[in-house]
Amino acid sequence: MDGTFEQKGASAPFYLPQGDECDIFAAAHAANLPLLLKGPTGCGKTRFVAHMAARLGRRLYTVACHDDLSAADLIGRHLLKGGETVWVDGPLTRAVREGAICYLDEVVEARKDVAVVLHPLTDDRRILPIDRTAEELQAAPGFMLVASYNPGYQNIMKTLKPSTRQRFLSVEFGFPRPEHEIPVVARESGLDADRVALLVRLAGKLRALKGQDLEEGVSTRLVVYAATLIAGGMALDRAILAAMIEPLTDDADTRKGLLDLVMAVTG
Ligand SMILES: Nc1ncnc2c1ncn2[C@@H]1O[C@H](COP(=O)(O)OP(=O)(O)O)[C@@H](O)[C@H]1O
Ligand SMILES: [Mg+2]
Repeated sequence: MDGTFEQKGASAPFYLPQGDECDIFAAAHAANLPLLLKGPTGCGKTRFVAHMAARLGRRLYTVACHDDLSAADLIGRHLLKGGETVWVDGPLTRAVREGAICYLDEVVEARKDVAVVLHPLTDDRRILPIDRTAEELQAAPGFMLVASYNPGYQNIMKTLKPSTRQRFLSVEFGFPRPEHEIPVVARESGLDADRVALLVRLAGKLRALKGQDLEEGVSTRLVVYAATLIAGGMALDRAILAAMIEPLTDDADTRKGLLDLVMAVTG
């Protein structure tokens, strides 16, 4: 299915915690509670879930939600196979049956019927009704629902309804502090700490412009991209332009302002 992949990690992918989010995830998993991760794009949410799934020894089903994603995409549907109609489980159903972790990335993007499916799964019943097959699945032990969303997007139509939101424990992810972001970027890119520190300083300045000239600040993901290009031999200013300036704006004046800022930081 589109935007869906599964993973069963033997060794957990690298994740440096910002705070106590690993403990909260583990406690939520142990208590059968769903978890909502709030925060801007590229700040480590997906990596965090992959890391925790591996640590807890659970298979992970990740679904990148989009505005066409319907309940049937999550639950499953009848498909024609060799002249016969067979039922094929969707990723959510598979996770419910197997006791896996299902991660709905950017859940607010999904169609409204998805929320209806999530409600009986996110209270103490932990059931998934499948109308098409007249089944009612009880979630296997270990099943956990994790969702993410970006409250920063200024889209009235795309906020999470309180009735859905209040079913989840929530953890806030923000842009990391420099002492946290520097080791993350250094580890991910292999670039030396001095040049990473420079990029992280620049990222901090760019983030301070959010709300005035920029809709969203530069993500850790983009800082990792810049560092990776530089580690691969690209000139500093070229890498910064491609990874940390152009992705942020299409406006010529704003771009010029950002470039002035780069000059001020890199000298
Ligand atoms: N705390 C962290 N530990 C390890 N890597 C991180 C961390 N935060 C961000 N990253 C890096 O940033 C990239 C983007 O993070 P990702 O999890 O995809 O963001 P999100 O899902 O929040 O959009 C990751 O691929 C990883 O390289
Ligand atoms: Mg993500």
